[in-house]
Amino acid sequence: MPAPPRIFLTRRLPDPVMEVLAERFEVARTKADKPLSARSIARGAAGCQGLVCMLSDAVGETVFSACPDLKIVANYATGTDNVDLRAAKERGVVVTNTPGVLAEATADLAFALLLAVARRVVEGDRLVRSGRWTGWGPTVLLGTDVQTRHLGIIGMGRIGQAMARRAQGFGMDIAYHNRRRVPKAVEAALGAHYLSLDELLATSDFVSLHCPLTPETRGLLDAGALARMKRGAYLINTARGEVVDEAALIDALESGRLTGAGLDVFVGEPRVNPRLLALNNVVLAPHTGSATWDTRTRMGLMVADNLAAFFDGREPPNRVA
Ligand code: DGY
Repeated sequence: MPAPPRIFLTRRLPDPVMEVLAERFEVARTKADKPLSARSIARGAAGCQGLVCMLSDAVGETVFSACPDLKIVANYATGTDNVDLRAAKERGVVVTNTPGVLAEATADLAFALLLAVARRVVEGDRLVRSGRWTGWGPTVLLGTDVQTRHLGIIGMGRIGQAMARRAQGFGMDIAYHNRRRVPKAVEAALGAHYLSLDELLATSDFVSLHCPLTPETRGLLDAGALARMKRGAYLINTARGEVVDEAALIDALESGRLTGAGLDVFVGEPRVNPRLLALNNVVLAPHTGSATWDTRTRMGLMVADNLAAFFDGREPPNRVA
């Protein structure tokens, strides 16, 4: 029997995934379960044929040049903005991701943020815990209705569509913007209509981001685009921090031009701009869009399937490069 392929895993994954990986591969990982620098990944993956990495791992030249045996990078995420796809291609390294399986969980969190910021749930929690709550009041912590309000979804892939389904249930009016229009039947099923980006920004009470981070979407909501948003609107971001000009967003939130934001992602995670931390009209989550046991397990099993297919000489089902 040939020796099993050796893979380096940058973080511990849910137990069922660890078991499946251990059955098929020789798994190496560091003892500490914490984010690794590119140099530590390069050290760990030296001599490995496979690398399982997280969205927080920068995988590029530093890793590829130190790991000439590396044949496949299986990213434990849908987004692959953390992997230098061009460098991978140049070196003939295959890259895979985990699309689809996290759509429902991520849309759940996006909608949770939307409701939390619209109905001031976290502010209410803080008030109750502070001991300063003086009882029910007709104007205490008034928020915004979501029913009949306009939701603008940017990025109508699987997560955007899952967001639209949730919004339907809450009686929202749904518009979307996407590189390509989705089929008419999908629009009809979701009750969603297509708008140009500017039309969507100008008319949406809530804008929710569901696009990948690519060179085209980096800074998509820059200061100009944020200024074109409807006065008093809300922004929900479960995509990537870098899709938004964070400083311009904070200006808009501080001035009250935007009423609030629900953010699961930040520029330069895990550092969070202290100006954001000081704002009451934002709800902040620590990039937990896909963080359920079921979803993280499914993502891991998808990683294992991609690796197994590759090392069996088949095309990995979720190859991106
Ligand atoms: C992804 O897969 O890109 C998500 O951000 C993970 O939570």
